[in-house]
Amino acid sequence: MSSPAPVVSVLLDPDWAAGSLVDDVRRGLGAKPLRLPPKWLYDDEGSRLFDLITRLPEYYPTEAERAILDLHGADIAAACDASTLVELGSGTSDKTRVLLDAFDATGRLRRFVPVDVSEATLRAAADMLDRRYPDVAIEAVVGDFTLHLGDLPGGDRRLVAFLGGTIGNLYVEERGAFLGALADSLEPGDWLLIGTDLVKSSDRLIAAYNDSQGVTSAFVANSLAVLNRELGADFDLDAYSYVPFWDAHMERMDLRLRSEAPQRVSIPGADLEVDLASGEEIRVEISTKFRPEGIRAELGAAGFEVEHIWTDPADDFALTLARLR
Ligand code: AVJ
Repeated sequence: MSSPAPVVSVLLDPDWAAGSLVDDVRRGLGAKPLRLPPKWLYDDEGSRLFDLITRLPEYYPTEAERAILDLHGADIAAACDASTLVELGSGTSDKTRVLLDAFDATGRLRRFVPVDVSEATLRAAADMLDRRYPDVAIEAVVGDFTLHLGDLPGGDRRLVAFLGGTIGNLYVEERGAFLGALADSLEPGDWLLIGTDLVKSSDRLIAAYNDSQGVTSAFVANSLAVLNRELGADFDLDAYSYVPFWDAHMERMDLRLRSEAPQRVSIPGADLEVDLASGEEIRVEISTKFRPEGIRAELGAAGFEVEHIWTDPADDFALTLARLR
């Protein structure tokens, strides 16, 4: 018997993006040091550039995570008894297919719940997945994983997958809040599969975020183009240079734009004027790198017990399976 047609639930209200962009910009550029939250990097152009990044020779995380899924997908599926797979930030559900194939092969998988902020991306993915997995019910959720964890469909044993190393973009207190909210939305015995990039030599890290073709620099600079378009801001994109650096103390990449001259920027949509000094920097993204003991500690603090940590053959990236106590 094949499953019912895919269902797409829209939890984001239509002006979510507009409202939370204004809030984020006021908070981030209305105080010093200046920062912008990374979620606004992924408009159409940003998503296109990120897709190019994942294929750069210097950017290892995407391939490393895929290698773990290829090598250990069956082990992951065998290690947990979930019949619903939830994927946060699923995008095109590209890597997900490897995971879905592994779960589908166990015969236990009943339902797949992709969660993403892009309705168009989810609708396309839902139709593709429905054709490919006729016996799995597709219940897509258009939502923001920082807001809508409480509304995930329940009813049976769930595995929540959060891949790509996206958790590394959050500050440690945001990670704690996110993992705590996730734990609150799950039942004891439910599972979490989380991808994290690992600490490695600063040379390789810097190369991964400062590629020779300049794609990452264009990706980061695009954040200003988003503010120009969405909020009528007048950032002069040529007046900034891209400065990525490895913060060895915090063990994270810190990606910034530096204003090369003093300037005043007006952002009418946020009712804001920002004065930048020459050399002043705007932090656009952090990308935290982890160690196994840190992964265990942060998951443990939120109530998850680590079942297994898989890494790729080069030990560049980790996929951790944990269970809610
Ligand atoms: C998609 C958040 C995992 O942090 O490596 C890549 C984003 N930024 N190059 C990362 C990113 C610059 C990426 N994540």
